[in-house]
Amino acid sequence: MSPSPPPATTVTKAVIPAAGLGTRFLPATKAMPKEMLPVVDRPAIQYVVEEAAGAGLSDLLVITGRNKRPLEDHFDHAWELEEALTRKGDEGRLRSVRESTALAAIHYVRQGTPAGLGHAVLCAQQHVGDEPFAVLLGDDLIDPRDPLLTRMIEVRERFGGSVVALMETDPASIHLYGCAAVEPTAQDDVVRLTDLVEKPAPGQAPSAYAVIGRYLLDPAVFEVLRRTPPGHGGEIQLTDALRELAHGGAASPGGPVHGVLFTGRRYDTGDRAEYLRTIVRLAYEHDDLGPGFREWLTAFVDAEREAPTAAADGGPGVAA
Ligand code: G1P
Repeated sequence: MSPSPPPATTVTKAVIPAAGLGTRFLPATKAMPKEMLPVVDRPAIQYVVEEAAGAGLSDLLVITGRNKRPLEDHFDHAWELEEALTRKGDEGRLRSVRESTALAAIHYVRQGTPAGLGHAVLCAQQHVGDEPFAVLLGDDLIDPRDPLLTRMIEVRERFGGSVVALMETDPASIHLYGCAAVEPTAQDDVVRLTDLVEKPAPGQAPSAYAVIGRYLLDPAVFEVLRRTPPGHGGEIQLTDALRELAHGGAASPGGPVHGVLFTGRRYDTGDRAEYLRTIVRLAYEHDDLGPGFREWLTAFVDAEREAPTAAADGGPGVAA
């Protein structure tokens, strides 16, 4: 997933919330931020930074918290390492180590108290100022062959207000997401939001459209977030602020809210099983590792079909 040349765009700032505790990945995330978990050969957050840079967003603000120092180190120069690799003449690795520092100007602010996604976004107000900005959630990786952010920027240029990314989801999973009630527009892949509900209870979802982790927000959202009370889970929800913008429509500053219906490749790394699937998929397609990995995986699956290890052992098999 390498970045393509960035398009010129009217939006230049992006906010990447990364203050979460990563509890779903414990104990792996006891002493390491979940954003640093490797996805094949890069930490998960690097894909998100590459996506933002690829869409022309050159000024990134990462919202961090306690124990997130490794994120800052990753996007900074590592002089000792670079010198050692230079001495060895290891150009390839030197390039890969330097790549992450050259992607964008990356700034950091700490959230202090983990009071929800809406609160994390509010921490970006001073840095963002009075400009539209993108929000990218690190659990969702979007394949660079399906440039979602670029489309969202076009939609904001056409309709104004704020834009979210939506994906049709099966009813059994909608309770994990913000869910949007929508009406069509003249463009097939764009809808207007009439309502939004954060993590609807079973039977309460207004549609099958889930908000996935990409937003393009009007700065008016900050004022709404300031007065948004805690919602689902006792946290200040971005969804609740966006609902207010959607209800106000074009008449409210920051509205209307449109949704881009995304049908491209999204990889969810926020859940252990999905994280493993993401790694297998991306390793399968990887330029260097792919050919060997495909061969091994095919042989492994064939052998498992013949004589399943897990079933024979009565539990998950781990090679010694
Ligand atoms: C957050 C948002 C939710 C959105 C989801 C997308 O939830 O609150 O509205 O649908 O991201 O991944 P989280 O996954 O952080 O619980």
